[in-house]
Order: sequence, then C-alpha cells, then structure tokens
Amino acid sequence: MSETGHAMLDAIRSRRSIRQYSADPVSDDDVRSILEAGRWAPSGLNNQPWRFGVVRDPKCKNTISELTRYREIIRNAPVIIAVFLDNDAGYDRVKDCQSIGACLQNMWLATHTLGLGGVWLGEILKNKEGVGEILEAPQSYELMAVLAIGHPKHRQQKSDRKSLSELVFKEV
Ligand SMILES: Cc1cc2nc3c(=O)[nH]c(=O)nc-3n(C[C@H](O)[C@H](O)[C@H](O)COP(=O)(O)O)c2cc1C
Repeated sequence: MSETGHAMLDAIRSRRSIRQYSADPVSDDDVRSILEAGRWAPSGLNNQPWRFGVVRDPKCKNTISELTRYREIIRNAPVIIAVFLDNDAGYDRVKDCQSIGACLQNMWLATHTLGLGGVWLGEILKNKEGVGEILEAPQSYELMAVLAIGHPKHRQQKSDRKSLSELVFKEV
C-alpha cells in the first residue's frame, strides 16, 4: 500500500474525541484546511448541501454553549464549526444527511491530521433552532452538528469498537 494509504488508515484508527483543549489558538490556515476537507466531501448528485458557521468570538461561543450540556467543551474550544444542512439544496433526506456525515468525518479527520483535536457534538441538536438564531442562519439551514476544535490538552483518550465478527453478519 502507498504511504498516503497507510497514513490515512492510521488517521482513521487513531482519531479520538478530544474534549479538553490547551489555551493555544487555532490558526486561520488550519481552520481553512478543515473547511476545505469538508468542502471536498462526496454528496448525492454532488449537491453539496453543507453550510458552515465558524465561531471564534468568545461571547458568541458562550451564548451557544448555554444550549448544550457540553457547554464546557464549547467554551474551552478556541473555535467551533456549526455544520448545517441547507434544506433548499437538499433532494433526499437520507442521502443529504449521509453527505453531511461524510463532510463532518472529513473535517474531523483533517483536524486530527493537522495535529489538532476535535469532537463532534450532537446533543446540542435538541436546541438546533436556537443555534441557527444566534448565528442568524437562513430559515432553510438546519443544524446537523457542532465540531469543537482545539489543541489537545492531552492524548490519553481511549476508545473501543465492536469486533468485526459482531458486525459482519454475512460473508459469502
Ligand atoms: C453523531 C454523533 C454525535 C455525537 N455527539 C456527541 C456529544 O454531543 N457530546 C460528546 O461529548 N461526544 C459526542 N460524540 C462523540 C462520540 O461520543 C464518540 O465519537 C464515540 O464515543 C467514540 O469515541 P471516539 O470518537 O474517541 O473514537 C458524537 C459522535 C457522533 C458521530
């Protein structure tokens, strides 16, 4: 396998949810690279239904943080990216949501590859309208997740997965 191939599999395997960050800022270049990774995600009919709200402003971040039980993560992350589905650009609910998932995973892996850490926050969706209002998102934008990003405070995160034998139900 090529070196790039190995690096990609390593990144997929070693990415963890990072919920604590140092005070170091995240550069504009890094944020741009993460957004670029999202932009290049696949989507059905190439409809690219994702829209991004990038928030660094501490006051705005704090207001958003009140909408989730994971407020400390959002407060402490130097930057968050709210990922929306533009329903006006959508054509099939399942496929549009799958595309947004691919976009988020691209951005998360890019974050990890850049030496940063992030976590995909979904619990905040219980207040998705509130996040949209704070960011003055158009009516057709529906919040899909918030990606919190920063420099990892530490890298001791552990995680596990079901074994393949539990997941592959048939191989003929
Ligand atoms: C759709 C989705 C929603 C998630 N929502 C949250 C969340 O609200 N808060 C949180 O701390 N982690 C959240 N996570 C992160 C998961 O808890 C995490 O990916 C999982 O436990 C596996 O750990 P790992 O990412 O370190 O491999 C979410 C992940 C996904 C894909």
